[in-house]
Amino acid sequence: MKTTVSVIKADIGSVSGHCVSHPALMEKCDEVLAGALETGILEDYYITRCGDDIDLIMTHRNGELNEEVHRTAYDAFIQATEIARDLKLYGAGQDLLSDTFSGNVKGMGPGCAEMEFKERPSDPVIVYCMDKTEPGAFNLPIFKIFADPFNTAGLVIDPSLHEGFSFEVFDVMEHKKVVLDCPEEMYDLLALIGSTGRYVIKRVFKKNGEIAAAVSTDKLNLLAGEYVGKDDPVAIVRAQSGFPANGECVEPFAFPHMVSGWMRGSHNGPMMPTSQEEANPIRFDGPPRVVGLGFQVTDAKLVGPVDLFDDPAFDETRRQSANLASYIRRHGPFEPHRLPSEEMEYTSLPGVMEKLEPRFEDMDEE
Ligand code: 13P
Ligand code: 13P
Ligand code: MG
Ligand code: MG
Ligand code: MG
Repeated sequence: MKTTVSVIKADIGSVSGHCVSHPALMEKCDEVLAGALETGILEDYYITRCGDDIDLIMTHRNGELNEEVHRTAYDAFIQATEIARDLKLYGAGQDLLSDTFSGNVKGMGPGCAEMEFKERPSDPVIVYCMDKTEPGAFNLPIFKIFADPFNTAGLVIDPSLHEGFSFEVFDVMEHKKVVLDCPEEMYDLLALIGSTGRYVIKRVFKKNGEIAAAVSTDKLNLLAGEYVGKDDPVAIVRAQSGFPANGECVEPFAFPHMVSGWMRGSHNGPMMPTSQEEANPIRFDGPPRVVGLGFQVTDAKLVGPVDLFDDPAFDETRRQSANLASYIRRHGPFEPHRLPSEEMEYTSLPGVMEKLEPRFEDMDEE
């Protein structure tokens, strides 16, 4: 019998501004998911949040894209949105419906990462939840976990990892996908996924086809040929016994890499790995956060989690991230802090250009 891990997330309102999900919303989600546990749709679940995004981590026997599981999550978000509206939380229903203006490009729906697998004798699974960034923010850490021998010692010394992994990459602009093998096609892979706003790692597989990782890319891949904004992403990564070790899976996050998102979804800033408790992006609405939760998946039940970045060994990363935040913030409205105009979520440029149009003089004659 196979087990499915589904992580479905949405920002349905927060306090204050875009900072933190309200506990009442998480309680409502808990109530709805408890109901689904009772009726047997779910085997187990764990609810967390990263910043203003609520992440429903669910296990079940129904496979990927299951209607009942997805409806359960959607219902939870819809019902919690009612509370968000009553409390006049910021961006109530932000990622679900389009009736509350929050200044963001409206979401098409919740984000989702899922994988179905036959449980190993012991099956460690890690769930990462990010806020104030986009799915491409996972490109660098997922690449390092599954393809960088300087990160993952097992690629060199563990025979069960030595042949490498395959990466499924989405082109979110052209709505196309491609699978590239590592280490054989590593440079081609990097040529794509270095463009984090366009090429996004969706899944990673062992060479025998077994699923190793899945990333939410939902909103971005839905609208081909049109930029549809940031969507704070989640990822599921399997660890140990044929996959990278737990420690190899968290190691890339010791580097506070630069990602797009932060204030108004329009700035580059350093990632900051934190505990669940500290996943409160406050300074300039950031810097962007990532939470990591380590579970054992046992007969479709979630044993754990361990709050993976609740480790003093990541204190230095957090300090670095804060220092980098100070450095890049001093650029104010200048690139590369502010994103290039075509990638900005909130852009006043069209209005400014329209206003200035009559005042632009042609320089061809000069
Ligand atoms: P232990 O000896 O603590 O089980 O660690 C094994 C290991 O491989 C850690 O990466
Ligand atoms: P969220 O995508 O987390 O809601 O952030 C939006 C924003 O504009 C932050 O400044
Ligand atoms: Mg928000
Ligand atoms: Mg968010
Ligand atoms: Mg968002």
